[in-house]
Amino acid sequence: AFLQEVQVKEINAVLLTKGMSDNWESIWNFQAKPNDLLIASYPKSALSGTTWTQEIVDMIQNDGDVRKCQRAYTYVRQPHLEWKPWLLSTPGLEEAEKMPSPRTMKTHLPVQLLPPSFWKENTKIIYVARNAKDVAVSYYHLSRAMSVLPRPGTLDEFIDKFMNGRVLWGSWYDHVKGWWNKKDKHPILYLFYEDMKENPKQEIQKILKFLEKDLSEEIINKIIYHTSFDIMKQNPMAGYDTIHINIIDHSISSFMRKGITGDWKNHFTVSQSEKFDEHYKKKMAGTTLTFRSEI
Ligand code: PPS
Repeated sequence: AFLQEVQVKEINAVLLTKGMSDNWESIWNFQAKPNDLLIASYPKSALSGTTWTQEIVDMIQNDGDVRKCQRAYTYVRQPHLEWKPWLLSTPGLEEAEKMPSPRTMKTHLPVQLLPPSFWKENTKIIYVARNAKDVAVSYYHLSRAMSVLPRPGTLDEFIDKFMNGRVLWGSWYDHVKGWWNKKDKHPILYLFYEDMKENPKQEIQKILKFLEKDLSEEIINKIIYHTSFDIMKQNPMAGYDTIHINIIDHSISSFMRKGITGDWKNHFTVSQSEKFDEHYKKKMAGTTLTFRSEI
């Protein structure tokens, strides 16, 4: 029945790795609970700031207790639902099934492929978005350094693939717009990487309100400090740079790479940028969703 509801073609376009599309039926049938929390993003908006948001949320849930937040790697504390191939012997969703409530999980699925139980149970979702050019640059570097990801080719080739949605998890444009359109019909807090960089306190306060939690000024400042790029980069339990299996070739790039806004200017040529902007205008026409490309 799930095959009737979700286009097989679409799954294959989005979940290009075998590990994910083979397991699609269990992903689609995953049972969310009302007190779960899901952190959703297009990769690198996390690669837009997914991992950053995950750390902030864990710090909030643990009242700023740094040691508790170092109890395990990010992907164990907050399983990535649809992802499996290399980190664990079991897919993220099986890890999630074993977890006690309240659970916090991560997904990069586009809105139309989210398991329907999340809508049915009215589960809270935090979505993080980041401007397209910085996502493309971050995604390009991680793809170069992680041999389990599809080969990116040159930056020019990768920009072309990115614009046409021929990358893992599909089109950035459809992803950010799809989740944006859903945000008034479901409890979704839609955040931007650029805002988190500019005013982390304000964004943390939005998360606190969304989670119906109150923390002192002192704890909020502690969270800002411990989730800042430089401190998180040194934290062996946050990010993917220190994971026990060597999945990232650090001579090429790192997961915690630069953590800045506007790095696309150091990568895109003027003609690449113009071509990108022209295509962007067409893809984003008619939406109220806007991004800042720098701060
Ligand atoms: S993933 O794999 O898709 O979940 O990646 P994701 O975590 O979404 O994105 C990785 C990028 O986020 C940057 N990052 C941060 N920036 C600022 N502050 C903090 N604390 C932080 N943590 C992660 C990370 O460096 C990647 O961006 P780039 O531009 O490549 O540096």
